[in-house]
Amino acid sequence: MLLYGLITVAYKESAMFQGLITVAYIIAAILFILSLAGLSKQESAKKGNIFGITGMALALVATLASADLSAIVYILVAMVVGALIGSRLAVKVEMTGMPELVACLHSFVGLAAVLVGYNSFFKVAFAGGAHGGESVTIELVEIFLGVFIGAITFTGSIVAFGKLRGSISSNALSLPGKHWWNLLAIVASVVLMGFFISEGGSMANGFQNPLIYLGIMTVIAFILGIHMVSSIGGADMPVVISMLNSYSGWATAAAGFMLSNDLLIVTGALVGSSGAILSYIMCKAMNRSFISVIAGGFGNEGAAVSTEEEGEYREMNPEEVAETLKQSDSVVIVPGYGMAVAQAQYPVADITRKLKEKGVNVRFAIHPVAGRLPGHMNVLLAEAKVPYDIVLEMDEINEDFPGTDTVLVIGANDTVNPSAQDDPSSPIAGMPVLEVWKASTVVIFKRSMNAGYAGVGNPLFYKENSYMCFGDAKATVDKILLAMQ
Ligand code: TAP
Repeated sequence: MLLYGLITVAYKESAMFQGLITVAYIIAAILFILSLAGLSKQESAKKGNIFGITGMALALVATLASADLSAIVYILVAMVVGALIGSRLAVKVEMTGMPELVACLHSFVGLAAVLVGYNSFFKVAFAGGAHGGESVTIELVEIFLGVFIGAITFTGSIVAFGKLRGSISSNALSLPGKHWWNLLAIVASVVLMGFFISEGGSMANGFQNPLIYLGIMTVIAFILGIHMVSSIGGADMPVVISMLNSYSGWATAAAGFMLSNDLLIVTGALVGSSGAILSYIMCKAMNRSFISVIAGGFGNEGAAVSTEEEGEYREMNPEEVAETLKQSDSVVIVPGYGMAVAQAQYPVADITRKLKEKGVNVRFAIHPVAGRLPGHMNVLLAEAKVPYDIVLEMDEINEDFPGTDTVLVIGANDTVNPSAQDDPSSPIAGMPVLEVWKASTVVIFKRSMNAGYAGVGNPLFYKENSYMCFGDAKATVDKILLAMQ
């Protein structure tokens, strides 16, 4: 056993073995890039997933192969426990629970970066840290930044989890002088970093002071994460999700620097930059500036949130909706979060097939922030086998509403709210929306007159060509299907 151990150690330190590990990491990084490219289109998403899984498997094998014998046991135990929890969650989670699950996973990445940071700090400290010089300074900067980003990601993601789950109100927290508190936290962290680096370079006499600076900064970053995400209101949440995704990537890259692991650095940078691009796309979709969103809605203070009823509305029952559909030549279906909750995508796909058989021009209109996750509606419709070519983005279909006979709004609300265009005092003012009210008839499927995620009243419900069809979306669509037989 001892001999085997010695041979293994000698082999692992050989240039050839190190070269093999580097090659494996490079191939894994290329597979991750191919995976991202594949995931950018529905047609190639499956292939993208396979690239990602292969890259991750290769990375795990290479990491295991390069670890010490004793560490392999710990890694295997952690992997088995993680795989058991992960596979159970993946099987159990509903599509509506995916956003919360993603937020929860981001919080783990943040926490891992904090723990790696403290571990690296103690490593430097116990090694004396006394050698000083440039390399220790760089290590200390990596540790400080890694813990800072990780701590913000950790608590920010927990708040996002609560907001998406509905256990924390989706309204923006508005403390007096909130931007000054954020600025103070950042300035205090920069000052602490200065002390941490200047005293951390000579830890031979003890590492209590640098540890105290690191600890105070960690608490500040935890609070900053909570405050930043709490300050962001309902409709801006999509940006928070993609922003936390980006932060989790940068936290991973920081951990990669601390652990001198090239693959972690590359993977973290990929996730960090793709999350940043997604945040930009989300901001564009919502006509928001990125800075104003992450600073907690600059200029949003005092915006009126109205959920009051604003007039008379008319109703249509499922049988009447079926009759209206029979007389329509063109139909546009607008899905939203309610379709996901009700799992109505399957009967909706059946209605689509039926209408197509009758020669009706039926298409889907997807708002970029519909649902609770980027691409949420596309995934649901793909799951129900709705053909990709009739699923159109907002910009591709918005001009077609005036020539459309019937629009079915299935569990969508904020994304079809005309007040985004008509009411400058609305919290969603300026957000591009699907202009469904321009069609001849609009039927809105929901259970009540309640507001959507942003908590804003919707004048669409009171328009002359609008009809409410109350009830759970799946039950309603099932009844329409029956009436269409
Ligand atoms: P929402 O504005 O959230 O409206 C969904 C509607 O579905 C609600 O008004 C609700 O009305 C209805 N509903 C819920 N359960 C239902 C059921 N079982 N059957 C029928 N209807 C049901 O949806 P949206 O138009 O998709 O807009 C998305 C919102 O979420 C935006 O404000 C967006 O900013 C925000 N958001 C998006 C994301 C991403 S990344 N997409 C992430 C976080 C937040 P009733 O209660 O009356 O039934």
